[in-house]
Amino acid sequence: MQFKGLTFGVPKEIMCGERRVSAIPDTVKKLVNSGARVLVEKGAGLGAYFSDQDYEGAGAELISDAEEVYANADLILKVKEPLFNPEKNKHEVEMMHKGQTLVTFIHPAAPSNHRMVKDLAAKGVISLTLDGIPRISRAQSMDALTSMSTVAGYKGVLMAADRLGKFIPMIGTAVGMIKPAAVLVVGAGVAGLQAIATAKRLGAAVHTADIRPDAAEQAKSLGAKIVETGVPAEIAVGEGGYAKSLPDEWLQKEREALCETVSKADIIILTALIPGKLAPILVTEEMVKSMSPGSAIVDIAIDQGGNCALTVGGEVKEYDGVSIDGTKNIPGMVPVSSTWMFAHNIYNFVVNLIKDGRVYLNTEDEIIASSLVTRDGKIVHNGALEAMGMS
Ligand code: NAI
Repeated sequence: MQFKGLTFGVPKEIMCGERRVSAIPDTVKKLVNSGARVLVEKGAGLGAYFSDQDYEGAGAELISDAEEVYANADLILKVKEPLFNPEKNKHEVEMMHKGQTLVTFIHPAAPSNHRMVKDLAAKGVISLTLDGIPRISRAQSMDALTSMSTVAGYKGVLMAADRLGKFIPMIGTAVGMIKPAAVLVVGAGVAGLQAIATAKRLGAAVHTADIRPDAAEQAKSLGAKIVETGVPAEIAVGEGGYAKSLPDEWLQKEREALCETVSKADIIILTALIPGKLAPILVTEEMVKSMSPGSAIVDIAIDQGGNCALTVGGEVKEYDGVSIDGTKNIPGMVPVSSTWMFAHNIYNFVVNLIKDGRVYLNTEDEIIASSLVTRDGKIVHNGALEAMGMS
């Protein structure tokens, strides 16, 4: 009975357009079977098509008031960081209490979240962020960031395809052959590889570019043609095999290497990121101008600033007939699959966090140490402290 004596709270997400939820009836059942009480806010699962009855059937207690969920839970499981709740005229942090544990995506280094993180510390909340989970094999089943990147890569291609005024596959017609659409995927990490696979399934001719040689290899095995960036591996790859921020001269060379493929692309999916840093600008205004009217760009890197100089966060804009999609929260647009993955990821995370009915902050455990944001009234997350100038 791992969770005996513990009460979990599952509030309804309040971010505009958010349809995911942090627990599904299957994971609620597992918590309850291991001794937990689970309080689910009424309607929390509706965006992902789970009814209140589904949760009740799994053993949850349905609560109509969000504040009551926060007040009575030992642990709060959420998808998005705490936000101001206009219906209650209260911030979600205000609804929390000392000693309570919060598990969610916090993105604590992002300047827009600094105030909220300081408030969590001041309240005495123990907060753990899912974006801090390290990329080690033991943590794979908890890695919500990877799950959500998979969704974003897939959906990003469909969003672009929907906007494109052309077929994606090669189509033979009585009046001649229609060529397949040309897709360029920049960045071939988790989201990029899924975008490549999705575009290939739709029948596109796919090109890709990544500065990590390993990523380019994986993309090639999915059938993408590689655009050589010319960036040497020793400049591109840092600690742990991750991409590094490039000096301006190399970024410029990479943009030049991409120019021709950009000008011929019908669809561009942008996913190039450097962990914890602003995304590099790889598609300039000039490059957008070189594209044909009717082409579509989806900038999946927008949460870290975007890879296209013209992307506007949260909006779809058109420049000379080229649409540039800066939609944030793409995973929320595939609520069933993303919720299914997220709920299992967060469940596996709490299984690792809790021993004998208690939250056990074992900082010898890399997974816990790197996801911990606040404890004992203090901010303990290095990235956040650095970004706040407090390190
Ligand atoms: P990410 O989201 O931080 O970056 C996306 C991609 O952008 C990366 O492939 C990166 O090399 C690329 N990129 C950065 N700057 C670029 C530039 N200037 N031009 C072109 N591309 C650029 O990375 P993601 O997708 O989260 O993971 C990267 C790798 O980490 C994966 O390919 C995988 O090998 C590994 N990984 C391991 C996991 C595990 O073992 N549990 C889980 C997830 C990822």
